[in-house]
Amino acid sequence: MIRKKFIAANLKMHFDVAEASTYLHNLSKTLTSHREIEVVIAPSLVAIQPLSREIDVRKIKLAAQNAYFEDEGAYTGEVSFSMLKGIASYVIIGHSERRIYFHEENDVIAKKVKAALRNRMSPILCVGENITERRDGHAKRVINDQITSALSHLTEEEMHNIVIAYEPVWAISTFGNEQAMPDDVEKMINEIRKQITYLYGEKVAESVRVIYGGSVKADNVASYLAIPGCDGALVGGASLNYLEFNKIVQSCFNVMQS
Ligand code: 13P
Repeated sequence: MIRKKFIAANLKMHFDVAEASTYLHNLSKTLTSHREIEVVIAPSLVAIQPLSREIDVRKIKLAAQNAYFEDEGAYTGEVSFSMLKGIASYVIIGHSERRIYFHEENDVIAKKVKAALRNRMSPILCVGENITERRDGHAKRVINDQITSALSHLTEEEMHNIVIAYEPVWAISTFGNEQAMPDDVEKMINEIRKQITYLYGEKVAESVRVIYGGSVKADNVASYLAIPGCDGALVGGASLNYLEFNKIVQSCFNVMQS
């Protein structure tokens, strides 16, 4: 099964509406579309709705960075997946910043995955071990727990809409800033597919896209994309510069041609 490459910009809590709009405008002008690559940007929640009116989704798709799992109700300050329906194609769920700073546990993440699918958005499920878990040799167990708790209650049909981002916490530029070695990333990507195979069988595991995130830049993305089974990248800091992000997409195309 051919898995389309997936390159996403997680803009985190950067850019107000005007800045996000300028970013989208500049990126759209610079970017050459490739049929084999899906390009996604995740702006802040306040910018996502205005951007949805400006964006050409054939070229760039929108992802939300978060949402709440109930569709409506007395949840002051929250925005539901149902409110984002038709606005965002994807939604980032379980990012380590949400797990660490906002204490999101696996049970909440599982509910968010369900809510996203119920509202026709594809989850980008982030999984990854922290430095202590890695040093203690628990990385695989942590990943498997995160995957099982978030995804084991889905149908096979729903699984086809899942993208899994392996983001080791220690390799995210704002946490550890250590560079993950492609060999290490390959082992963990294989482990992720093994766990999906265990839960849903090989056919589903082969259909799910698994991408890498953690200090990805234009000058190192090729080494990750060359990993067999790595279907793309989730880019934080380096995506804030549209020229750099464009280079990352271009590099993905070059790897596919080689
Ligand atoms: P950096 O690319 O800044 O390391 O961030 C990765 C990330 O958290 C993407 O979701």
